[in-house]
Amino acid sequence: MKDVIIACDFADRGRTLEFLAQFPEGEKPFVKIGMELFYAEGPAIVREVKARGHRIFLDLKLHDIPNTVRKAMTVLSGLGVDICNVHAAGTVEMMRAAREALGDRALLVAVTQLTSTSEQRMREELLIGADMNATIAHYARNAKAAGLDGVVCSPLEAGLVKNACGTDFLAITPGIRFADSAADDQVRITTPARARELGSDFIVVGRPITAAADPVAAWRKCKKEFLAI
Ligand code: C5P
Repeated sequence: MKDVIIACDFADRGRTLEFLAQFPEGEKPFVKIGMELFYAEGPAIVREVKARGHRIFLDLKLHDIPNTVRKAMTVLSGLGVDICNVHAAGTVEMMRAAREALGDRALLVAVTQLTSTSEQRMREELLIGADMNATIAHYARNAKAAGLDGVVCSPLEAGLVKNACGTDFLAITPGIRFADSAADDQVRITTPARARELGSDFIVVGRPITAAADPVAAWRKCKKEFLAI
């Protein structure tokens, strides 16, 4: 089940397919398609990447009223992706609507607090009085109550999510860097090996692979470290 998911943060179809073409037939990485690429190319890019044999995490982070999320998720459920997500801040009712619309056609996970949100901003701008870890554990429990399969969180939070929701509840974690690579704009980072030790089920890795001189080698190295193979 554990795997490395490459964040395909490319602006368009051309660059995405050019990137994926570097991987040999028979070695198809799990990929993440996010808002930028989806908004630029629409559902066609999802179908095209899927037709090439990749598993897909469609990272659109839905957050709206339950009825709208239900209808949007019904549309997305027809794309045949492997993982979809919503914001836990949308409430249990909204997450439940998403689950009902998606059924078991894909794993469904919730974003707890974005890793870009600091505890100070959470308190001062969002007026959330609880501390970050308590908020994340609470949102994860809400996601579980709504029937979701897991959450997206920092690898540093995977343990507290598992403590709150059980070991089978998935922790999908971005913020991964090799020990010797640049942090870029990520702050709370860990290596693939450390993410495994901390209990991550899937690591989401962007620039350490997409910007590497040899992306296929970087992906293999990442899998080797994360899966301890
Ligand atoms: O290039 P990098 O490895 O930093 O990419 C991480 C990916 O994970 C990006 O697609 C980013 O949007 C996403 N992500 C994140 N932190 C979150 C949620 C998603 O970095 N909390």
